[in-house]
Amino acid sequence: MPDNWFSFLDAPRILTPPPGPKSRALLEVQARLETDAVAYPKYFPIGIREAKGSTIEDLDGNRFIDWVAGISVLNLGHRHPRLLAALQRQAEKIWHSLEIPTEARIEFLEQLTASLPGTLRNHSKVLFTITGGDCIEAAVSLADFATGRSGTVVFSGAYHGVHGGAVNLTGGRRYRETSSFRGGSVVRVPFPNPYRPVLNTPESAQGVIRYMEHLLKDPYSGVDRLSAVLVEPILGEGGYVVPPDDFLPSLREFCDEHDLLLIADEVQTGLGRTGRFWGVDNWNVTPDIICIAKSIGGGIPASMVAYREDLVKELPRGFHLGTYRGNPLALAVGTEVLKILREEPWISQAARRGEKVRARFREYAGTHPSIGDVRGKGFMIGVEFVKEPTRRTPWEERAKAMRRELFLNGVLMHTCGSYDNVLRFMAPLTIEDPLLERGLAVFEQALSNLDSAPAEKSPLPPRATSPARPRPEPVGKPGLLPPRHPAQSPPPPGRNLP
Ligand SMILES: Cc1ncc(COP(=O)(O)O)c(C=O)c1O
Repeated sequence: MPDNWFSFLDAPRILTPPPGPKSRALLEVQARLETDAVAYPKYFPIGIREAKGSTIEDLDGNRFIDWVAGISVLNLGHRHPRLLAALQRQAEKIWHSLEIPTEARIEFLEQLTASLPGTLRNHSKVLFTITGGDCIEAAVSLADFATGRSGTVVFSGAYHGVHGGAVNLTGGRRYRETSSFRGGSVVRVPFPNPYRPVLNTPESAQGVIRYMEHLLKDPYSGVDRLSAVLVEPILGEGGYVVPPDDFLPSLREFCDEHDLLLIADEVQTGLGRTGRFWGVDNWNVTPDIICIAKSIGGGIPASMVAYREDLVKELPRGFHLGTYRGNPLALAVGTEVLKILREEPWISQAARRGEKVRARFREYAGTHPSIGDVRGKGFMIGVEFVKEPTRRTPWEERAKAMRRELFLNGVLMHTCGSYDNVLRFMAPLTIEDPLLERGLAVFEQALSNLDSAPAEKSPLPPRATSPARPRPEPVGKPGLLPPRHPAQSPPPPGRNLP
C-alpha cells in the first residue's frame, strides 16, 4: 500500500491561526477572480495544499480533521489508494466515450446492479447522469414517463438540488417532449421529525401518511393525480433527521396502494454513510427508483438513476441527455468504491462506531444544555443546538459559532437544518480511531469554550497544538482500527449552502 493512505495522523495541528498568510494570499486571488457566490471558503477560509484520508493540510502547514468529507462525497476519505490506482489505470486507456461501451462502463454496471437494495439487485436498469440534482430530475422524468402522469410528493426540509430549466430554453420540441424535466406539480408534506413534530404524532409517522391519504382520496383536497413520492431516507440538508421506524415501510405501502412510484434520494445517504449500504436498507424498503451520486465517484463527478427493469418497456432515444454522462474515469473509480465497500468492513464499522460517537455527543448534551437533540445512523449524525431546551428554540448562532471554534482548532464540521442550527458529523467511514478521539475532544472543548465565552461573537483564541485529551472510554478500542494501511468575510446569514 502506498503510504499516502494514512491521514496526517498528527491532526489537528494548528501552527498559525487560520487563515495563515499563504492561505490568505490564495483566498485574495480567488476573491478577485472568482464570483463571490462561492460558499465554502467563507465557512472554512483556508487554501488547501494536500488532503489524505480524513485530513486536510492547508498552505500554512495547519492540519485539519475533515468531518465534512465533501458533504458525503468522500465516504472512503481523500485519495484512497485503491481509488487512486483505479483512476491511474483508467487514465491510461480512455477518458471520454460518450455512451459507447468501455470495459469500465460495463464493469461498473455489473458491480452497481449487484449492489442495489432489495429486489432492485440484478433486476434494474441504469441511466447515467452527472450531478445529484441531475439524477433527481432524471428520476422524476422517468416516474412521469412510466406512469403517464406528472406530479411529485416531496417532504418539507428536503434538499434535492438546484438544477432545472435549461431544457425549456432549448429549441428542439422533441427534447422537451422526451427528455425534459418539466417538474409537474409539487405537493409538500411534513417530514416526520421526532424532535419537531408538526402533526402531533411524535412517536409515529402515521399522521403524515394519513395526511397524504387525505390529499389523494379527497376529491376536494386540491391535489391532482400524481406520479411519485420522492424521499430522502434520512433528511440531509434538512438537519440529519431520522424518521420513525414505521415511516419508510408505511410509505412503501402507501405508494403501492395509490399506484405511485417510490423514489429514494440516496445522494447523501447512500454508499455506507448510514451504517448500511443504502439508507433504505435500515428499514428493508426497496424503492422503484434510486438516485445515486456523491460518494459513487469518490470525488470524481458521477451520478445515476437505477430503476426497476419492468418499470418502462423502452425509453425514447436520448431520454435525459448530457454529454458527460458515465465518464469512464469516474466509473472506473466507482467500480472500485463499490468493491471496497463490499470487501472491506467500513460499513459495519461505521454502524458500530457511529453508535459510540452518538453516545459521546449525548454525554456532552448532558452537561451542555445548548445541545437539544442528537440523532443519526452510522456516520450521519446531527447535533441540534437550541437556546431554550424546553421550548427547543433553534440556536443558529451557537451552531455557527461552534463551526468556527472547531475550525480554529483544527476540526472541520458543517451546519445544516431548516434553521441552520444543526452541526453534522459526516467523517469519512475510514477515519482512524485516534483522529476520531481527538476530534471529539476538540468538540467537547469547543462547547466549554463557548459556554464560558462572554459573547457569541468572541470565541476563545485557538490553541497552538493538538488538544487531544485522554478519554476514559475510547470510541474504538485502541488498535481496533489501526491505521489499516497502516477571517474572511463572515458567512451569509440563514441556511448555508449544501
Ligand atoms: C439528498 C441530496 N439530493 C440531491 C443533492 C444535489 O446534489 P448536487 O449538489 O450534486 O446537485 C444533494 C446535495 O447535497 C443532496 O444532499
